[in-house]
Amino acid sequence: MSNASLAARVPLRRLYDGTTIPAIGIGTFGSDKYGAEEVSNALYGAIRTGYRLIDCAAVYMNEHQIGEVLHRVLTEGIVSREELFVNSKVWNDQHRAVEASCRQSLADLQLDYLDLYFVHWPFPNYHAPGCDGDSRNPDSKPFSTEEFTDTWRQCEALVDAGLVRHIAMSNMTIRKLEAVLPQCRIKPAAIEMELHPSFQQQALFDYCMERDILPIGFCPIGSPSRPERDRTAEDVVDAELPAVRQAAEAHGDHPAVTCLKWAVQRGQIPIPFSVKEPQYTANLRAAFDDPLTEKEMTAIAAEDRNCRLIKGQVFLWPGATDWHELWDEEA
Ligand SMILES: NC(=O)c1ccc[n+]([C@@H]2O[C@H](COP(=O)([O-])OP(=O)(O)OC[C@H]3O[C@@H](n4cnc5c(N)ncnc54)[C@H](OP(=O)(O)O)[C@@H]3O)[C@@H](O)[C@H]2O)c1
Repeated sequence: MSNASLAARVPLRRLYDGTTIPAIGIGTFGSDKYGAEEVSNALYGAIRTGYRLIDCAAVYMNEHQIGEVLHRVLTEGIVSREELFVNSKVWNDQHRAVEASCRQSLADLQLDYLDLYFVHWPFPNYHAPGCDGDSRNPDSKPFSTEEFTDTWRQCEALVDAGLVRHIAMSNMTIRKLEAVLPQCRIKPAAIEMELHPSFQQQALFDYCMERDILPIGFCPIGSPSRPERDRTAEDVVDAELPAVRQAAEAHGDHPAVTCLKWAVQRGQIPIPFSVKEPQYTANLRAAFDDPLTEKEMTAIAAEDRNCRLIKGQVFLWPGATDWHELWDEEA
């Protein structure tokens, strides 16, 4: 089957204003394991295979290489710009310079607009790329509604200027959303959040759905190749959850594919990462091939272990002792 027909089989979701977005995308964070060239070379294959939604970020330090691939697929006529849906994100150290950061991402990605632009984290707290889990920056500070709102105003200005079509938030909590949503002139079209069978964030998921804000799920497979700094002994392996394994066996799928079927059928947009052709092809097909039964969906829903993998402890501020504080939770 040609890539155009695979792409056409991917269901579409709608943002609050009716704009369509593919029900599955591809991540581009190499997790300190895959270099920029490896990620971008794979992306060329992934777009040929039928991916149209591409999740980028300045901090992944590969937007320049990805831009060369986007230029190539567009000039080769594999896709048109209108068919692509490209995300990028402002990094934490650029919250006071959002337009400059967005313009840099546009230049690197060789695009004249982004479809969705995220505030990557709700804090201006910065850590060096590739740092270890115990790293702390003495300049880090807790969430501030006023500072976040100022960053959001700059994002709204990007929409006004036509640099981005929609704006979005990431790594939010209900408490933070309650504080900032009333301040938004332009509401977030999506919230990127960690979502996988062992970490379903049902309350935040429902909160977004009720407000017509699309949940985009990162680490949808449970990020088995995540950096060492994001691993703890208590972490659950999604591929080993009994209901995931049973459904995978019943459908002849890898458990990773089962996690993605669950995600798409639940209603979030998963953005799995892979540089391996058989994996990213199977992942794309998860959006439409051989869906899970209602019974399998219910069994996976019961596997939630509240197991957050990306705890964000490197963003803690002086005086904060536990990563739960980042998420407005009791330790
Ligand atoms: N907004 C945020 O703060 C945030 C945070 C984290 C991630 N993200 C985004 O979300 C994307 C996805 O997250 P992620 O990369 O951490 O985790 P993930 O997609 O859950 O896991 C990716 C890993 O799963 C394995 N995999 C993928 N497809 C597979 C298949 N069909 N069969 C078997 N194994 C498979 C691969 O492992 P191998 O490498 O061993 O092949 C791959 O490296 C990122 O790339 C990024 O774009 C955003």
